[in-house]
Amino acid sequence: MRVGVIGLGLMGSGIAEVCARAGCDVRAVDVVEDAVTAGLDRVRASLARAVERGKLPSAGSEAAFARIDAGTDLEALCDCELVIEAASEDEAVKVGLFRRLDGIVGPDAILASNTSAIPISRLAAATAHPERVIGLHFFNPAPVMGLVEVIAGLHTATHTRERAEGFVRSLGKTAVAAPDRAGFIVNALLVPYLLAGIRMLDTGGASADDIDTAMRLGCGHPMGPLELADLAGLDTVAAAAKSLHREFGEPLYSPPPLLLRMVESGMLGRKSGRGFHTY
Ligand code: CAA
Ligand code: NAD
Repeated sequence: MRVGVIGLGLMGSGIAEVCARAGCDVRAVDVVEDAVTAGLDRVRASLARAVERGKLPSAGSEAAFARIDAGTDLEALCDCELVIEAASEDEAVKVGLFRRLDGIVGPDAILASNTSAIPISRLAAATAHPERVIGLHFFNPAPVMGLVEVIAGLHTATHTRERAEGFVRSLGKTAVAAPDRAGFIVNALLVPYLLAGIRMLDTGGASADDIDTAMRLGCGHPMGPLELADLAGLDTVAAAAKSLHREFGEPLYSPPPLLLRMVESGMLGRKSGRGFHTY
């Protein structure tokens, strides 16, 4: 299968790797040339780690990497059967991309978004063929996490959903059908928890280290809320919170001022080297 991936950031590079390891030919596109290089470096490092840990033979790693063709030209996606958009969590950017994709891909191609929280029907409304638009929400790190939320919009055709679910299974992931509401299932539950951790830090209730240690050791979570927010990217967490707050209007979704100031100051978590912790 030929799969297009848009955006070669944290998620796009992970999704490209997962697809290539499953035998798909991948065309990956980012608007920023340096992001293409950095994304391919991330894939290479992740494949090398899989080889080191005995999860993948060295030849398999080389073959997977060779299946990824990356560049900056969106037109390269013209013969893809499925395109997974994983560009920044910015509705205007995504709407612009979906609008352009209509004129690039063939009539049978499925257009999927990896958005964290934007309702799929809103992205589908930007295209002339909303029946082929669907949400495929992978989790970070994509090569490790077993879930993909599958979100059908109001106009998504049954055969689009069935093909998308079959694709998720072919990657060795579990598909869960999630409602087309901001945040779907996971982020509607996870984001308010992350925001609560940030509010606790902001009001001086506890240190960042203690909040994270408490949730790791007290609840058996692999990461505390602040290190998890740093992993996801604070810009992504803030954008998801804004989508949820816009949709439901509930104070628990409102992004705390500390989070907004950190994003405005370029403290984006692991990807910028500094967030609630330093990397
Ligand atoms: N890329 C590829 N593989 C990675 C990786 C990465 N970035 N990070 C870790 N791994 C792999 C390792 O190679 C290792 O693989 P094996 O078990 O096959 O050997 C495995 O993951 C465990 O890694 P480590 O032992 O190095 O580290 P760890 O045990 O601390 O696990 C973790 C790291 C998997 C990230 C773990 O801490 C974890 O599960 N954290 C929570 C992640 C989570 O909740 N993600 C969801 C975020 S929310 C989201 O994604 C939605 C959204 O829209 C924002
Ligand atoms: P990121 O900031 O790491 O990467 C985004 C990439 O998109 C950047 O390389 C940027 O140059 C590129 N981009 C921006 N506009 C573009 C355009 N018009 N065309 C092509 N590329 C463009 O972000 P990320 O964490 O990879 O998130 C990507 C998407 O995945 C977002 O919608 C996010 O909400 C979602 N998501 C993120 C996580 C996470 O934990 N980070 C998890 C699941 C889903």
